[in-house]
Amino acid sequence: MNKLYFFWALVLLVLGCKEKQTEVETAQEPEYYSEPYRPQFHFSPEANWMNDPNGMVYHDGVYHLFYQYYPDDTVWGPMHWGHAVSKDLVHWEHKPIALYPDEHGLIFSGSAVVDKQNTSGFATNGETPLVAIFTYHNMDGEKAGRTDFQTQGIAYSLDNGETWTKYEGNPVIGNEGIKDFRDPKVTWHEASKKWILTLVAGDHAQFYTSPNLKDWTLAGQFGKEYGAHGGVWECPDLFPLRVEGETESKWVLLISINPGAPNGGSGTQYFIGNFDGETFTTDQKEPKWVDYGTDNYAGVTYNNEPNGDRIFIGWMSNWTYARDTPTEKWRSSMTVPRKLKLKKIGLEYYLTNYPISGIDGLASSELSKTWIVGPSETTTKTIEGMNQSVTQLKTTSKDFSINFKNALGETLVLTLDADNNQFILDRRKSGKVDFQEDFGNKIHIAPLQLLDGDDLELKILLDQSSIEVFINDGLLVMTEQIFPNEPYNSITIQNKDPEANVTVESIKKMESIW
Ligand code: FRU
Repeated sequence: MNKLYFFWALVLLVLGCKEKQTEVETAQEPEYYSEPYRPQFHFSPEANWMNDPNGMVYHDGVYHLFYQYYPDDTVWGPMHWGHAVSKDLVHWEHKPIALYPDEHGLIFSGSAVVDKQNTSGFATNGETPLVAIFTYHNMDGEKAGRTDFQTQGIAYSLDNGETWTKYEGNPVIGNEGIKDFRDPKVTWHEASKKWILTLVAGDHAQFYTSPNLKDWTLAGQFGKEYGAHGGVWECPDLFPLRVEGETESKWVLLISINPGAPNGGSGTQYFIGNFDGETFTTDQKEPKWVDYGTDNYAGVTYNNEPNGDRIFIGWMSNWTYARDTPTEKWRSSMTVPRKLKLKKIGLEYYLTNYPISGIDGLASSELSKTWIVGPSETTTKTIEGMNQSVTQLKTTSKDFSINFKNALGETLVLTLDADNNQFILDRRKSGKVDFQEDFGNKIHIAPLQLLDGDDLELKILLDQSSIEVFINDGLLVMTEQIFPNEPYNSITIQNKDPEANVTVESIKKMESIW
């Protein structure tokens, strides 16, 4: 090689590296995570595009969060697995990219397991392998109009997720011509002493079994005639959960769907039923929804959670406008981690989701003391810092609204309208809405009949560019993005009920995790 060329190439490389080094702010710098709309107590990547949570697994003191990541732009592109770790599911440390695209394709969504018995044989010196199972998406195949371009691959780590090696026998599940064939979720099934892999195949889920995570056998299918089918099925999850207050356990199947969610675009439905080691069955024909807001998608749960809890994290966006949201350096964040519970009301089972208690630990100074809005009364309080807060409310009112507002008059309104059996989230005038036509064009409605009894408890998390509303321990949930041009600094409660009070128990500031 020409020596001069080599010299200049080296100079450019060193300069290039220097430039990169100064570009990335470190956590110590005051500007770190302080851009407009940057969530302060939700996970978001330092820079660039993120979608689904992937590979959620706990091992040896560490909760891993991998995620669909495109490191070169703030819009979707060739997918990698980004990586972060946490000891408490509240504070996160960013790690280098875990999985890069390779000759089989891009790295789409999937899961990770702790292979405690080394069934895979990946450990050779007594280590415990972490095994990631993901979808390969082959772009050339897709462009050529083929239908077999999505296959399933695995990779392993022998140092608790620090470094990863792809399995040389990939792909472990080939494709016989199903266009949408992806998002494997794997768990250990103790009763049959086998690994179970659930993936989606267009309009249904498939279940595979394996003794070693490498050799998979198709065992069952579910879903063609069940639930919502307004779009393709994506990101399944399958797990048992004990029914609250009872000894009985049921199996829960989560299925994300895009489009076809109750308020438009992407959403996550669930089914409650049974799983016999080979297939899932239920008599639930109609879908139930994890979240009635428009911004909770592709959510799945942790494997190997140390307290035996089922912890869920979703991507806080919607494919309808995910690429258009008005953030500059990065795009989108995750929901707060939520604990799932199963509740039986009458003869029906419901899955509830509610912030893990660690999130409460971020609540600090009181922005407002307890106050009561009496029957047919309206009260407004000016509260700086409202848009990074947690509000707790209690009421038996059948007709009230909560209105968050800023100095520009932009408003985000929650309304409980018992007469029409509705809980409504209205972000039509909440701030920037016109970056995409479907973002702010209509009110979003959740059915009130889900709630049992007259007492309502609301927990509302506001974090710069999102709102999460949890009613009655997460029996009814709405999660949405918002982009106010200035922070909300007042709250108005209009109580139209002639008999009942609305009690604002507390409004507290939420500390930043960054
Ligand atoms: C869901 C999804 C998955 C796919 C991934 C690609 O949001 O479409 O089905 O694996 O995103 O990034």
